[in-house]
Amino acid sequence: MSNSKLLSSFQLSDLKLPNRVIMAPLTRSRASTGDVPNQLMAQYYAQRASAGLIISEASQISPQGQGYACTPGIYSQAQITGWQQVTQAVHQKGGRIAIQLWHVGRISNRIFQPDSQPPVAPSAIKAESGRSYNLQQGQLTRISTDTPRALSIEEIQAIIANYRQAAINAMEAGFDLVELHAANGYLPDQFLATNTNQRSDEYGGSITNRARFTLEIIDTLIDAIGAQKVGIRLSPKGEFNDIVDTEAEAMAIYLAEQLNKRQIAYIHINEPTWNNGVPYSDKFRQQLRQTFNGPIIVCGAYTQTKAEQIIQQGLADLVAFGRPYIANGDLVERFQRQAELNTPEPETFYGGDEKGYTDYPLLEPVTELA
Ligand code: PHB
Repeated sequence: MSNSKLLSSFQLSDLKLPNRVIMAPLTRSRASTGDVPNQLMAQYYAQRASAGLIISEASQISPQGQGYACTPGIYSQAQITGWQQVTQAVHQKGGRIAIQLWHVGRISNRIFQPDSQPPVAPSAIKAESGRSYNLQQGQLTRISTDTPRALSIEEIQAIIANYRQAAINAMEAGFDLVELHAANGYLPDQFLATNTNQRSDEYGGSITNRARFTLEIIDTLIDAIGAQKVGIRLSPKGEFNDIVDTEAEAMAIYLAEQLNKRQIAYIHINEPTWNNGVPYSDKFRQQLRQTFNGPIIVCGAYTQTKAEQIIQQGLADLVAFGRPYIANGDLVERFQRQAELNTPEPETFYGGDEKGYTDYPLLEPVTELA
């Protein structure tokens, strides 16, 4: 493994990552009342501190931005204090952690919304296959999404201000970076995609207009905490949450161009393969690479071997692992030692306690021979 690129160090902004194995953001729905991060979450993230970088589970920037029960927030003082336990636990174990900033937009139900209002979106178009999760008798239960109402320009500006405050809160909570969740059919992606954005004002229509919301968020994050602390997650050609974007590649290249000018910390691409979608062509990967000169993280059903290959090919700098990280807190050590991986158990992915969360076995430490 001595010639492994995946296991070699990488300078990401002012962070020296000991390896290029990234923990992908994973919704686990174990926050306490008030959507406050807790000690169990601190233990879970600290177990994963050997990752080059941990990206936290998606965390709502406001009550309106929530669509699933028990996902953590980053808007209240109690949530900031809760996250401080998490970031301290990770840092004490020598790790680094970014927070993923989340607004679900239309992927929500009135029960989560202030005053039981419909959820919000660029346009009033329902996500037919979208799902929201509520807590019923202690169990996370799938519920349908509600038809959203279209945001006014003033409301769009207020949401951008919520993102800004969330980034400031994230710094107070001790995070090393923030990642804007602009992937997987949540609010920024609903503005980017052709089927979910039917607006006729400056936030809809052309590629430039559909990208405006995402770039205005990025600009306010940069203004608040600095470009070197801001990353973004995109999912070009992803179809999760009923996204059908007829201009997905062109939009991705336009965003890469714009983000390149802003010199943000990284672009994180969630590939359609994460959800059994069609793999990208090498041509598209090369175009992205040529357009964005900063670090690129890729994610989507990668194995150690595939991750090594994509970095060797020069098409990505870092690779994020999702499901393998659910079951293997010590994924980096397992890669280093070519050890077998534990298999994740889907029934414990969302909600519950330490079962299927912090109780997957870790490798025994290597003992030095006398
Ligand atoms: C999920 O809870 O299934 C989920 C959350 C955020 C994502 C993708 C999936 O970006």
